[in-house]
Amino acid sequence: MDTKLDLKIATTTLAARGYLNLPVPSRDTIVSEIKRLKKEKNAVILAHYYQNKDIQELADYLGDSLYLAKIAAEVEADMIVFAGVHFMAETAKIINPTKKVVLPDLKAGCSLADSCPPADFKKFKEQHPEALVVTYINCSADIKALSDIVCTSSNAVQIIESIPKDKQIIFAPDKNLGRYLIKETGRDMILWEGSCIVHEAFSFEKIVTLFKEHPQAKFIAHPESESQVLDVAHYVGSTSGLLKFVKEDDATEFIVATEAGILHEMQKRAPHKTFIPAPVEDDTCACSECAFMKLNTLEKLYLCLEHELPEILLEENLMIQARLPIERMLEIG
Ligand code: 13P
Ligand code: SF4
Repeated sequence: MDTKLDLKIATTTLAARGYLNLPVPSRDTIVSEIKRLKKEKNAVILAHYYQNKDIQELADYLGDSLYLAKIAAEVEADMIVFAGVHFMAETAKIINPTKKVVLPDLKAGCSLADSCPPADFKKFKEQHPEALVVTYINCSADIKALSDIVCTSSNAVQIIESIPKDKQIIFAPDKNLGRYLIKETGRDMILWEGSCIVHEAFSFEKIVTLFKEHPQAKFIAHPESESQVLDVAHYVGSTSGLLKFVKEDDATEFIVATEAGILHEMQKRAPHKTFIPAPVEDDTCACSECAFMKLNTLEKLYLCLEHELPEILLEENLMIQARLPIERMLEIG
């Protein structure tokens, strides 16, 4: 079955039910109401560091893509409320299919996942029949089903290094992470040309200017950023890697090139340090915020718990095919 069609039907049905217009408690009581519903329904909230800070504060589990995937695999609660984007909730459903998985806003997609349409990727793969397919977790279930092994930015180097040196590798969908991995591992990989709009919005020139104004600061970046940005970074890592670095490093000031939501957790872990979001090309937009991640709100979180909607539903065969490469990743690291 076509999952895009699935999603379209689900979205249409929900729109017809006026789902997002249903009543919500006032701002004063919404947090306690969410906590009440969570208990009543035996649900857990998993949230990514890019969520709004009020959602991060409510989460039972807050983490990067790898941590959240591991937690999703082990959860014993009846319902997983995934405060993140669609591919994350989909991954949770694939690795723990007996649980009900809901996402506060079904439109919370991902530009990177969208940059890899399954039909095109299938043809691309057929051009390199000998290659092993490694995909970044930021992709759809259909792409995972076409993969040999999945990785996240936390374990990508380890996953690539686990593959025999004489084996040709296709890496998709993020060309920036792919180029970074080629540099780090010395492996020559065939790259799919996808990217993340948030991490490509950073301005190299403005970062250099900002750094001159803050010469004591360390510049840190997520590997989804462009190579010229990564080349000047003092440290490159996943969201959890960046958090660990700012806590342990001696510097007291950091210029941070990743989605701005992470600054909340950075400030909590290192309250006496200063964090400056890396500047973006276009001053008129909030481009260092992921518009998809930010579609989730406390109100939608409440509605999601109360009505147990919108639910992530996937065709059984697709889940079986997409599960294997995720399980391979979880076995390795
Ligand atoms: P990590 O949390 O794995 O670093 O990934 C960042 C990201 O882009 C999630 O969409
Ligand atoms: Fe996708 Fe980029 Fe948003 Fe992460 S930050 S969810 S990669 S669009």
